[in-house]
Amino acid sequence: MRYGYFDDHAREYVIDRPDTPLPWINYLGSEAYFGLISNTAGGYSFYRDARLRRLTRYRYNNAPLDLGGRYLYLRDDATGDYWSASWQPTQRDLDDYECRHGLSYTRIASARRGIRAETLYFVPLNETLEVWRARITNERDTPAEISLFSSVEFCLWDAQDDATNFQRNFSTGQVEVDGGVIYHKTEYRERRDHFAYFACSEPLAGFDTQREAFLGAYRGWDRPVVVEHGAATGSVANGWAPIGSHHVRLALAPGETREVIFVLGYAENPRAEKFDPPGSQTLNKRHVRPVIERWLRPETVTEGFAALAAHWDRLLGGLRVRTPDADTDRMVNIWNAYQCMVTFNLSRSASFFESGIGRGMGFRDSNQDLLGFVHIIPERARERILDIAATQLSTGGAYHQYQPLTKRGNNDIGEGFNDDPLWLILGVAAYLKETGDLGILDEPVPFDNLPGSEKPLYEHLTRSLNYTLDRLGPHGLPLIGRADWNDCLNLNCFSDTPGEPFQTTENSIGGQAESVFIAGQFVLAAKELAGIADLLGLHGKAAEYRAAAEKMTGTIIEHGWDGAWFRRAYDFYGNPIGSGENDEGQIFVEPQGLCVLAGVGLDDGLAARALDSVAERLATPHGIVLQQPAYSGYRIELGEISSYPPGYKENAGIFCHTNPWIMIAETILGNGDRAFDYYRRISPSARERISDVHRSEPYVYAQMIAGRDAPTHGEAKNSWLTGTAAWNFVAITQWILGIRPELTGLRVDPVLPTDWPGYQATRSYRGATYEITVRKPAGSGRRADHLLVDGERVEGTLVPPAPAGSTVQVEVVIS
Ligand code: BGC
Repeated sequence: MRYGYFDDHAREYVIDRPDTPLPWINYLGSEAYFGLISNTAGGYSFYRDARLRRLTRYRYNNAPLDLGGRYLYLRDDATGDYWSASWQPTQRDLDDYECRHGLSYTRIASARRGIRAETLYFVPLNETLEVWRARITNERDTPAEISLFSSVEFCLWDAQDDATNFQRNFSTGQVEVDGGVIYHKTEYRERRDHFAYFACSEPLAGFDTQREAFLGAYRGWDRPVVVEHGAATGSVANGWAPIGSHHVRLALAPGETREVIFVLGYAENPRAEKFDPPGSQTLNKRHVRPVIERWLRPETVTEGFAALAAHWDRLLGGLRVRTPDADTDRMVNIWNAYQCMVTFNLSRSASFFESGIGRGMGFRDSNQDLLGFVHIIPERARERILDIAATQLSTGGAYHQYQPLTKRGNNDIGEGFNDDPLWLILGVAAYLKETGDLGILDEPVPFDNLPGSEKPLYEHLTRSLNYTLDRLGPHGLPLIGRADWNDCLNLNCFSDTPGEPFQTTENSIGGQAESVFIAGQFVLAAKELAGIADLLGLHGKAAEYRAAAEKMTGTIIEHGWDGAWFRRAYDFYGNPIGSGENDEGQIFVEPQGLCVLAGVGLDDGLAARALDSVAERLATPHGIVLQQPAYSGYRIELGEISSYPPGYKENAGIFCHTNPWIMIAETILGNGDRAFDYYRRISPSARERISDVHRSEPYVYAQMIAGRDAPTHGEAKNSWLTGTAAWNFVAITQWILGIRPELTGLRVDPVLPTDWPGYQATRSYRGATYEITVRKPAGSGRRADHLLVDGERVEGTLVPPAPAGSTVQVEVVIS
């Protein structure tokens, strides 16, 4: 069952009923000002930091799940009938409803009793504001007198404080209403440097800024008394809950459309004026008035919206594919690329599953997010790499997270996730392969952001590698620390006091548990660093890194192989995890993926055996589960993983992030059919037809799909902000379609499903454009051994970089 459809031409997903199984959301904004918006206009906005600069209020875990947003109410002043243009929050029946989520914009249209409303929400490029453009049409054959009410609930800007310190907040809220613009200035008074504003293009019949005056005592957003009566009260908030609501009256002739523009924005005062005039209660808003006036003009909005579309044309133009599979085309060309940009911007901070309060930018996560968008905006990838590297510690370890506003590591979770440093090597390698910009390796980057500690980025990479080598355990495998990629595999779980339950403390870092996953990741990273060292002419170093990779490969085969698959780890006591010796958790997906990616076991059949075990034991029709058998109860020596019920999250859920590792591994062995089959099992677009089972948005990946042990097998959760986006993009574009940047050129080495006759693609690479045609007889699972580059035969599958500005024809003929 579906709740909408893809409009590929418009690059939109069209939701045709408001009561989707979960809020189906979209993101507004691309650089500094962001908003989350659901299909019923729920959500909130913030400037750069969803905790410290949140403009509008949002309450998670609400009932209904999604309540609070950018709501417009319409009222027929002749009859008193009122409703919501986006269905929520009044939920009055609509004769027509449609939500179109597009690239950084959302358009919601509805009609009731002959009055149509269509609202476009977007954040213009380079602005710290959002525009709501509402078009109200009278489709009746008689005149209509309509009242339009806007509404937002301002937040007190530290979203954490908003939920915990309301004894204070109830007395600090302040607004100012001037020339029809509502200013929320609570923080201005406190810190005198920033404020929010909410403006309307039409003359106002009235306004409200105090929530309880607007809603009425003991009423909710579904039946505000002001809307019911059709008259704003002019309330001015002093404390309690400041809101912004404009009241506009529209007299519409039959067939007439009126456009009303609302602008919600964020402003900071120019430095010199911050404390001036002292003690003043009046905002200094000279600098925002012109901005507001400009964006309230219809022609500015039209131009701003066109500029946004052109921006996305540019971004998505870097890779276009035409394959025999429509789901693949729309994911690669539109939605997967779009999700990669969103995860790049927001890391794991703000979604309908991440509160925007708890987590900053992840060291591990952001390095992986790079993989999915580095070809789209390499300049921003470069900046991001330097920001991440500056949070590395001089030991080579890393803060697990950093704050987007300060770019500083946050201290509560320091060093201890022992996989973190290696991701920096993989992120930088991806950047170098895409751009060839070796200069980045010379950039001076501090450790822990400490001035004076700067070393070239290359030195950061070597310290990352040494961090693992300095921390090897009893079997010669890397120590896992607090956890590796799998946050919930806490193997140094032991109790200091016999009989006392385990607590995650610093002790969990010092234990002896080892990770086969990190061992595989190390081999991969050491090989990447060797390639980089070779390019720098450091051949001795390159040989050292390769030798380290080889030694670790030997250790994996000696201590990490279980007979039919790679083990996962050794626990604190030296017992294998992910082994046939265990009663539960016998086989884990992560080391099968990473070890094969790293080239372990390719020559001796171990890799193939491991992937067969994945197919036999972990693959389900909804994707590959993380491990089997699921843990049936809590085990202190395994930690959080065993705290989840079977089939959810890391306890045998389909943790989608890991699935592309297996797809890539399958292509390395030449199994295009299996790789693509796995790809389709979790492809959101391919799962659209089972939306009633999948339940999350059919246009973006979710972190997790409930595994076969769960009663809700197939149900997706935690959509949007997940490394799944970047890795699936890499799996399909670089390994299955096989268009893969390398340090010395663009590889084109497709590993396709046997029944495909080929595909076509256009790819920008280092300033040149490659027009790629792949032809292959249907039924053949073979790979290419040569290419035709501009008609000339090239042995192998590597296309050397062409001069910037040129167009290169690449033909791959597989016979
Ligand atoms: C985290 C990742 C982690 C994954 C598996 C996600 O929530 O963002 O960093 O690798 O869970 O535990």
